[in-house]
Amino acid sequence: MNKSETQTQTQTFSGMVISVAARAAQRGASLIRSPCALERAARSNKMPRIVRDAPRLAAPPASSPPVAVRRRQLPLGRRHRAAALCVCRATTPREIARAIEDAPWRGGLEPAANAPWTAAEVVSGRIPAELAGTLYRAGPGRIRLGATKYAHWFDGDGYVTAIEMDADANTARCAGKYVETARWTKQRARDGGDGTNDDAVGSSGVAVRGAWTQASGMMANLGRFPTNPSNTSIIVHAGKVLACCEGGAPVAIDPASLATRGEVVFGPSLPMGFSAHSKQDPRDGTLYTWGLKKPPFIGISVGKVNAAGEVMQVADMPFPRAAPEFALLHDCAMSENYLTFFMCPWELPNDAIVGALSGMKSFGHSFKWSDERETWMVVLRKSDLSVVHAKNVPSFSSYHTCDAYEENGKLKVLYGKLRGDRTGLEKNFGDMYAAVWSSRHYNDLHEMTIDIATGNVTDALAMPTNADGERDMTKMIGMEFPVVSPRTMSRRKPKYVYTLANSCGEHGYFDSIQKLNLETQKAETRLSALGHYPHECEFIPKTNADDEDAGYLAYVEYDVSRDAANVVVLDAQRFTEVDPVAVIALPMHVPYTFHGTFARRA
Ligand SMILES: [Fe+2]
Repeated sequence: MNKSETQTQTQTFSGMVISVAARAAQRGASLIRSPCALERAARSNKMPRIVRDAPRLAAPPASSPPVAVRRRQLPLGRRHRAAALCVCRATTPREIARAIEDAPWRGGLEPAANAPWTAAEVVSGRIPAELAGTLYRAGPGRIRLGATKYAHWFDGDGYVTAIEMDADANTARCAGKYVETARWTKQRARDGGDGTNDDAVGSSGVAVRGAWTQASGMMANLGRFPTNPSNTSIIVHAGKVLACCEGGAPVAIDPASLATRGEVVFGPSLPMGFSAHSKQDPRDGTLYTWGLKKPPFIGISVGKVNAAGEVMQVADMPFPRAAPEFALLHDCAMSENYLTFFMCPWELPNDAIVGALSGMKSFGHSFKWSDERETWMVVLRKSDLSVVHAKNVPSFSSYHTCDAYEENGKLKVLYGKLRGDRTGLEKNFGDMYAAVWSSRHYNDLHEMTIDIATGNVTDALAMPTNADGERDMTKMIGMEFPVVSPRTMSRRKPKYVYTLANSCGEHGYFDSIQKLNLETQKAETRLSALGHYPHECEFIPKTNADDEDAGYLAYVEYDVSRDAANVVVLDAQRFTEVDPVAVIALPMHVPYTFHGTFARRA
């Protein structure tokens, strides 16, 4: 298929006809008007390799949407010209509908419905043999109860999506289901129905306190610790499919039905929290996890669980002050011998602790950025969880690490460093329907070098500055969700890093995927087709191939034109050269997911 911006491919769906060429032209105009990194790059003849993904033929869903759908052709001249079609459900509150009209990517935030296993259509290409298996994704299935918005994206109720792919038959099927946590069950009991009925949900308020969202009525918050939404990732460990979130214990999911099987407590000594980014050692299957201690204790513990699910060791995380503190520690970087943690100065001040713990105030909103403190770095030995280094390093904010490796007595950690301020980022997370994204909300890929013997630290952009000493935006645009091949992860320096990115179009939300070559310092960017918004990629290596980038990038995307999701499979070696290896149109809506995993068919 020709990928020209001016092609006249049309998409049809239920009688609506969308001129992709017109949208592409509008999109081009938008880019010219918007001062962004890519535009500046083009003007300076430093344009990186960028291609736009071809528009996809929109396949009709295999089953009816879960609710009545109202489609609107929006007036030209609005900010959303780039994707001049908005799909709003009949039951969507007016304020939410307006938010989606203003920025169609927000339609990808809309609530999911429980969806039984249903056939999904492979609309182009073939599913590679290596993808025979199940792609699991986890995310917030809803961040609003009717017209009541949760107070943070991360408070959304956990929802697990599974896409099962059969490479031989070139077929797929999919299902999605809410994790029936204690909080979800209580909300359903209050609302009635199956818990996903738009008319009933939230009609009597928020039943249970979340980390950021207070329950309706003060008495429902007092003395209650924030509940676990179980919404962040899927980990397969010790034969169990686990929905994980740092807000509590992992929850086992039945892979056949996606039914909730209950919390899995590998051992009583583990902390209350169980990180969604718990690291599995590729050598022996050991799982390293960490989280907040069980109340009333304060601090963070790190645990080591073997491949059979037995807890081998638990140790306390050191803190910069004598007394342990409440801290949010989302990710860590694992190398062959070490775990490296960065605790950013996003602190719970002493004067806010009583309110946050008593339930008088939101726990999450009680955290503040401290200009006085630095980022606390802790390096632990994997062998015995002993402390190698624990020290302050210059302040930065980061949610995700990318990878870590050891080289000539140095420990090197690749991580995403926030360009702007954490307070601004959290404000966006606090109301995603109102969020407007810019370069400052995204990250640069940095590499921290830690001298293992001395603990001395240096830090630099993983992609270099230009000759003028400025960040060379032609080589990297703002990114998040960095991934590398599991073949190199934790073992050696990765040559390639793949990230979600934003080209500064499409209202600032993720609209592209980058392939960064850390050796040549070249970046390739693949802009998604208009109105298609990618979730985090999963890298699945090709069999019988040695090159690091010999593999597939599989990701879910929100397709505005269908108000539904696709699964897109790219050849990572031919990242910008060819059409997707396969595109699978799911007959269901999948709200933006955070993380997941791919389980190859046994
Ligand atoms: Fe994460």
